[in-house]
Amino acid sequence: MEKYISNIHTPKISIAPMVDKSHRHFRYFCRIMNKEALLYTEMVTAQAILNGDLDKILYFREEEGPVALQIAASNAEDAYKALKLAEEFNYTEINLNCGCPSDRVSGNLMGAALMSDKNLVYEILSAMKEATNKPITIKHRIGIDGTGVIQPNQGNIIMDGYEDLLDFLDTVSKAKPDRYTVHARSAILKGLSPKDNREIPPIDYDMVYRLKKDFDYLNIEINGGFKTLDSIKDALTKVDGVMIGRASYEDCYLLANLNKLNDENIKPLSRGDIIKSYIPYVEEELEKGSNIHSLAAPIQSLFQGQPGSRKFKQLISSSNVKRETLVPILNNLLEVMPQDILWK
Ligand SMILES: Cc1cc2nc3c(=O)[nH]c(=O)nc-3n(C[C@H](O)[C@H](O)[C@H](O)COP(=O)(O)O)c2cc1C
Repeated sequence: MEKYISNIHTPKISIAPMVDKSHRHFRYFCRIMNKEALLYTEMVTAQAILNGDLDKILYFREEEGPVALQIAASNAEDAYKALKLAEEFNYTEINLNCGCPSDRVSGNLMGAALMSDKNLVYEILSAMKEATNKPITIKHRIGIDGTGVIQPNQGNIIMDGYEDLLDFLDTVSKAKPDRYTVHARSAILKGLSPKDNREIPPIDYDMVYRLKKDFDYLNIEINGGFKTLDSIKDALTKVDGVMIGRASYEDCYLLANLNKLNDENIKPLSRGDIIKSYIPYVEEELEKGSNIHSLAAPIQSLFQGQPGSRKFKQLISSSNVKRETLVPILNNLLEVMPQDILWK
């Protein structure tokens, strides 16, 4: 393993790249609750950057920062050119997606399928390093099952043990990535939907902890299934960071509570104050013509697990939310939701 010791800052937590979820309104909302977490963009393909409207695809507000841009690429040249174009946007880090099992992505030898070709991953990461001085990171799985899908002429490609993972990282580490986000579940590239592949096969945290123990100079962030302050606290005793995916939209107030990672006695912003901070942003964005449903989505789970959660979701449901009703609904939530929970 290449002994490269990165000096980049690794926040204790990050919010995962998630297509259709981690858009800029979601990130702004997350940032109200948590000032420290590194927030990822949705995955953006290098081709989209090369051929698309950059302001539309890459624009974000300074207040969202720090933000990491995640790209998906299948060759070094595209990755290099895409990063050159992204330079004008102020992303803190750039991440390569080697974890997505979706057919659309893996069929093009992107995402998790890339793990079947460690030399190609090395080439892409090296090109990314050459294109920018920003930290370059990788998000990958502990293994893949590519039976019958990737590089069919090479037979079945299955990486399902610690030795296979080390073999992959041995080559990849030569490109000196600044952080490895390891999703502690193998990717199944055929026969499971990406959704099912977030529950099957079982999670294997120990493999990630073992990796950090054996190569303590690697900057390792763990990902997969983290939903509570305590489980995150525990993981942080073993690795450098924890990436949170679904919990950030299924129970978003967790992000406010995660401020306690730094100081047990800290009082997180109340739900009421979070809504109050979000309203002026929503007003501004509505004026600019931003999508109302994307603006309403991040707030949906703010009362998760609390009395009134169902009523909250109903009031802010997509059938109620219209351009002219969104702000009045947000103001109304401050009146009608249980006051003790809103302001505690
Ligand atoms: C709706 C959704 C979209 C996702 N899109 C991406 C993506 O664009 N890039 C990526 O690397 N992973 C993507 N993932 C995977 C997450 O980043 C994360 O690895 C996975 O959800 C496991 O973490 P969790 O158990 O905390 O949710 C997505 C997950 C979800 C639920």
